[in-house]
Amino acid sequence: MKAAVVTAFGTAPRYLELDAPQPASEHEIVVDVLAAGLHPRVRMQAVGSHYTSSRDSLPVVPGIDGVGRGSDGRLWYFMSLGGRYGSLAERAVIDTRRAVVLPDGSDPVLVAATLNCAIASWLALTRRITFERGQNVLVLGATGGTGRMAVQVCRLLGAGQVIAAGRDPERLAAIPRATATALTGDPETIGRLGAQVDVVLDFLWGEPAETAMAALVAGRTDLLRPLTWVNLGEMAGAQAMLPAGVLRSSRLQLVGSGQGSLTAAEMAAEIPAVAAEVARGTFAVEPDPIALSDVERAWSRPVDSSKRIVFTPN
Ligand SMILES: NC(=O)c1ccc[n+]([C@@H]2O[C@H](COP(=O)([O-])OP(=O)(O)OC[C@H]3O[C@@H](n4cnc5c(N)ncnc54)[C@H](OP(=O)(O)O)[C@@H]3O)[C@@H](O)[C@H]2O)c1
Repeated sequence: MKAAVVTAFGTAPRYLELDAPQPASEHEIVVDVLAAGLHPRVRMQAVGSHYTSSRDSLPVVPGIDGVGRGSDGRLWYFMSLGGRYGSLAERAVIDTRRAVVLPDGSDPVLVAATLNCAIASWLALTRRITFERGQNVLVLGATGGTGRMAVQVCRLLGAGQVIAAGRDPERLAAIPRATATALTGDPETIGRLGAQVDVVLDFLWGEPAETAMAALVAGRTDLLRPLTWVNLGEMAGAQAMLPAGVLRSSRLQLVGSGQGSLTAAEMAAEIPAVAAEVARGTFAVEPDPIALSDVERAWSRPVDSSKRIVFTPN
């Protein structure tokens, strides 16, 4: 089969011939991949910078999820979070315990663009913390595919205020259903809004997280009000400085949400509910479909966070 293959970390995948993977257990089946998203984590797989990457894993077919058709004609959304064979390939072996049959009429490209983005905050709020209806959430990195979906997910799960924070004022203004916006470089505004914040969904880490954390704690009027900070990504940097005083002077608690802090079974358990919302039209990320054979060229294009590249068969 043909696949996008990374042979050296830090280089774009090439469209190469590869032996097709074979099912290894009764739970696994082969599907023809119809759509697979180019998410930030997929780029990290090719760089070798994700915390799950290993030097021993080359060559690797990147791709963490997708939509494929089984030999019985059913359409599956699947996750492929381990091993060498990811979803950027003509065929994939999927574990049906980590997959869901999609409703009739589902658009594979739309599902591949949206589901990974939507499930990130869904899992954080339903599985990593005790989120209560009416709590106020600040989304740090709200202009990206996953951040925009986080605003929608917060609304669906009954959040009170949802504050969208990002670096681009025009993109921030275009986010539907946010109750307020704040620039990540504007600690005064974040501090003012921050007196009310209960939960932060942080897709950025790095300097914006440092600034926002200090501003929120400084802006607290009730220092005993719990502030739960959930890190989900690191678009602005893998490291952040955290002054000890920020932790000691407030009820700030830090949590992560991702592969490792969530089990595969926990992630799989939430797929049907999110897939149903995608099918209902609650969530949508604009797809940018590109043939898999163009993978090398697509990789070098500047990232446009308002759309999601989705690879499709040729
Ligand atoms: N843990 C999980 O379960 C999970 C699941 C899915 C995704 N994620 C992670 O979430 C993060 C965001 O994913 P995404 O799909 O939203 O990516 P995306 O669509 O590419 O959007 C990237 C976001 O990061 C912002 N950004 C990029 N570099 C920045 C910088 N240097 N300073 C400030 N903002 C910066 C972008 O701002 P502009 O719009 O201004 O460019 C945009 O808001 C990634 O780290 C991804 O791996 C985690």
